[in-house]
Amino acid sequence: MGAESAVWNTTGGVLYHDIEIPQLTAKPGSPSLESRFFADDGLWREAPMLTGQVSFEPLPDVRNILVTGGEGFVASWLVRHLVTKYPQAYTVVSFDKLDYCSSRHNARMLESRPNFHFVHGDVTNDEDVVDCLKRYRIDTIFHLAAHTHVDLSFGNSKSFTKNNVLGTHVLLESAKDVGTVKRFYHISTDEVYGEVKTGQGDLKEHSLLEPTNPYAATKAAAEMMVTAYAKSFKLPTVIIRLNNIYGPHQYPEKIIPKFTNATMRRMPLFLHGDGKHTRRYLYAGDAADAFDTILHKGRLGEVYNVDSRDEVSNFELATKLLSMFGINDTDSWIQLTRDRPFNDRRYAVDGEKLRKLGWTQRTSFDDGLAATVEWYAKFADWWGPVDNTLLAAFPVVKGGHVVKPEASRMIEKEAITGADDHTAVAGGGPDHNGEAVSNKRKLERMGPEDIAGADEHTAPGVGRDNVNGEAISKKRKVELMLSEDMADV
Ligand SMILES: NC(=O)c1ccc[n+]([C@@H]2O[C@H](COP(=O)([O-])OP(=O)(O)OC[C@H]3O[C@@H](n4cnc5c(N)ncnc54)[C@H](O)[C@@H]3O)[C@@H](O)[C@H]2O)c1
Repeated sequence: MGAESAVWNTTGGVLYHDIEIPQLTAKPGSPSLESRFFADDGLWREAPMLTGQVSFEPLPDVRNILVTGGEGFVASWLVRHLVTKYPQAYTVVSFDKLDYCSSRHNARMLESRPNFHFVHGDVTNDEDVVDCLKRYRIDTIFHLAAHTHVDLSFGNSKSFTKNNVLGTHVLLESAKDVGTVKRFYHISTDEVYGEVKTGQGDLKEHSLLEPTNPYAATKAAAEMMVTAYAKSFKLPTVIIRLNNIYGPHQYPEKIIPKFTNATMRRMPLFLHGDGKHTRRYLYAGDAADAFDTILHKGRLGEVYNVDSRDEVSNFELATKLLSMFGINDTDSWIQLTRDRPFNDRRYAVDGEKLRKLGWTQRTSFDDGLAATVEWYAKFADWWGPVDNTLLAAFPVVKGGHVVKPEASRMIEKEAITGADDHTAVAGGGPDHNGEAVSNKRKLERMGPEDIAGADEHTAPGVGRDNVNGEAISKKRKVELMLSEDMADV
């Protein structure tokens, strides 16, 4: 094992420069053989070790913890937290199929530690799961692996059912069969309750589940399987439902990292609908603390909400982020788009039950957002190229890549060509795809000569190259977008 050079970092962590990590290769026939997951560009060495803040007396009956989805956003916070806070007591296995939204960088700084292991596997595959449970003699499971992006779930809902419902079922069945699992923590979301109207009280854990979008429905369905296994097979389970989580290490498809990265790259921010939908935001370090508190102080068989004080509308959030980059001319940068097929106005859960265990939200929204923006400014290349995600109001995933659907490209091209017609929001009627007809017609009319004829002036929001910060012409930007689309589809 190489020496670790500990350097204090402004984001509040420790930097690791000299760790030697074992070379891992993709499993033959595995879901992700992409080199970006297995080639190490070393970027993680400059990153702080970000975790929650609490720690407890270790539990005597917990030794080997499986965290599914451990290379994704929220789970990687939990993995780093458990590995570093309990180095003698707990061994942690991060199990992940390495989907497009994950990054080995998220836990690479742990890979030289004896109490950390990474397993490349799929929760929908019985063999992968049973093999892992047996090999590491798992006694505790935190199940976070899921398809998580609501926008994608409208167009690709069966893959959400497969990964979220079947995946949970396979994990439960495997845990039952293997017989060593004494604790099963299932991570869920406030979205399972559905929309909470303004003025309506915050929802307690026993409130009705009324999901309104396919992602939330699969999360609610997965909960039903968990409850069934607890009742039928006495599997010791806990369900944890959290507000929106944000912070460093999140793939830039969700609103905070997406808008941060788009602003950094001088790209427009696409807001769904009227932009007035609100969400409550909890910093990822506070979420890690909530998991740790529930593990050590919670009761098996219970459901816990994890809530936040900070409720912010999407428009307020976009404005706040722009102002953090010194941009006050919001009209030039924010583009309203059509809304989701259904978009819950707000969510509101009551986390009093968890607070009684001693957990508290420690990070204010302003502090958390500042730390998040600072981190993304330093680690813009964490996931490799992400323009297709940033430049699409409604991205889709095909073959493990994010691609921009035709509908999004129309709106984007309008932004890029600096068109004066904002009918995507305010004007022409929607066509069968829900897009503004006048935009569509205009873009259909747009031929290569239009692109070639675009002038060399930079447009607000799209005037800089995303990598080098160099000035880039509208013409070049459109050419780049088109070539990326061709390559990915
Ligand atoms: N991010 C939030 O705001 C939030 C809020 C509440 C609850 N949650 C829940 O927390 C969990 C993690 O969310 P996130 O935002 O970190 O997601 P994410 O999309 O960042 O990460 C998901 C991870 O799961 C992995 N994964 C997906 N399908 C898999 C499979 N079949 N087998 C193995 N690994 C698989 C992916 O590769 C990825 O690493 C999810 O269950 C989500 O529903 C998230």
